[in-house]
Amino acid sequence: MAYAAGVDVGSTQTKAVIINEEKEIVGRALVETGANVIKAAQDAYDQAIAACGLRDMEVEYVIGTGYGRYKVTFGNTQVTEISCHGRGAVHVFPGTRTVVDMGGQDTKAIRVNETGEVIDFCMNDKCAAGTGRFLGATAAALDIPIDELGSTALKFTRPVRISTTCTVFAESEVLSWLGKGKKIEDILWGVHQSIASRSAGLLRRVGIEEEVTFTGGVTRNVAMVRSLEEKLETKLNVSEDSHYMGSLGAALFALDYIMTSRNPCDAKEVPH
Ligand SMILES: Nc1ncnc2c1ncn2[C@@H]1O[C@H](COP(=O)(O)OP(=O)(O)OP(=O)(O)O)[C@@H](O)[C@H]1O
Ligand SMILES: [Mg+2]
Repeated sequence: MAYAAGVDVGSTQTKAVIINEEKEIVGRALVETGANVIKAAQDAYDQAIAACGLRDMEVEYVIGTGYGRYKVTFGNTQVTEISCHGRGAVHVFPGTRTVVDMGGQDTKAIRVNETGEVIDFCMNDKCAAGTGRFLGATAAALDIPIDELGSTALKFTRPVRISTTCTVFAESEVLSWLGKGKKIEDILWGVHQSIASRSAGLLRRVGIEEEVTFTGGVTRNVAMVRSLEEKLETKLNVSEDSHYMGSLGAALFALDYIMTSRNPCDAKEVPH
């Protein structure tokens, strides 16, 4: 049995996935990226291998992706996260034609064909307003753990309209609404709606074609899923694998290489 691995070194979290020849995930791990990026990549990979009881030498090909892909020092090659999220999304949800990846720093909108090849993509440039970073700033301002943001927001009754589009000012706006006596859940839902609007704008720039698959760590936030579905007026594909989609895509490119010696760097990308 051949095994392949993908390691997605994101700006915030590093994800590693091991797959077998049947393209099934046999091991996975997630660690905080932190300041030592090389160590995060190695730790995530080692933990994924340990999770499936394999030895390093049994994994024939490893691909690094994500912003820290060149820090996967033990990897065989690198592929960009745009290609990897596209590939992973189409593998898990074959009807996918549009992907929205929301991570810790960036939001990316990607259009793919039926094989998962990238047709077009665009991402938020320098502005973090439509991204997980905005959620992080809000969670810090309200002193709420990030994994409770979504369930808290869904308790809203009278949403607050957030006017700030800048992460830097998010904290002060959130605190000023609190000072005016607004409920935390109403403020939070407003924050989610604001991020969803921005992300929907990004998606429109590449053209929204159904099915739309949501990837990245923010997929774990139930309020983000719901607010984005409302803005796009469509159901989003989300699964347990969504946070790992980039690393899964990388592992699938690695498996291609093992099976056919196809160079994963042939994955095409056309910037928007
Ligand atoms: N359990 C959770 N509940 C809610 N949100 C979560 C949870 N786990 C992670 N997140 C969100 O996901 C983000 C990390 O997502 P992801 O791992 O996709 O980012 P990344 O790949 O490191 O970043 P980028 O792609 O922007 O470089 C966190 O910053 C947080 O906002
Ligand atoms: Mg990422």
